[in-house]
Amino acid sequence: MSLTATSTTAAHVVGRVEDVPLGEGRAFVAGGTPVAVFRLRDGSLHATQAACPHAGGPLADGQTDVNVLVCPLHLYTYRWTDGSSPSGVTGVRVYPVHERDGALVVEVC
Ligand code: FES
Repeated sequence: MSLTATSTTAAHVVGRVEDVPLGEGRAFVAGGTPVAVFRLRDGSLHATQAACPHAGGPLADGQTDVNVLVCPLHLYTYRWTDGSSPSGVTGVRVYPVHERDGALVVEVC
């Protein structure tokens, strides 16, 4: 199901907040776009593309903290702030994500 946010961005309900255990990530599809959603132990939510731009690693299986996501395949890191990589490789797309009445809402364009 989807909810239109703007003319260039669409908000999609991808699941329930409890579908993502604290401190972990899970893969979803938001309006046809594969995404990885993380729920950090501080309660914050983050979303990025599902596949690592380096070699397609499953980013939802990566380790994370409040600053960066670490790809599980070759351990390159990506900043949550803008998707850029301190590892010096191509960055990832980051998507706005929030909770609405227990639903996980990801905005993709
Ligand atoms: S596939 Fe992600 S760092 Fe190589």
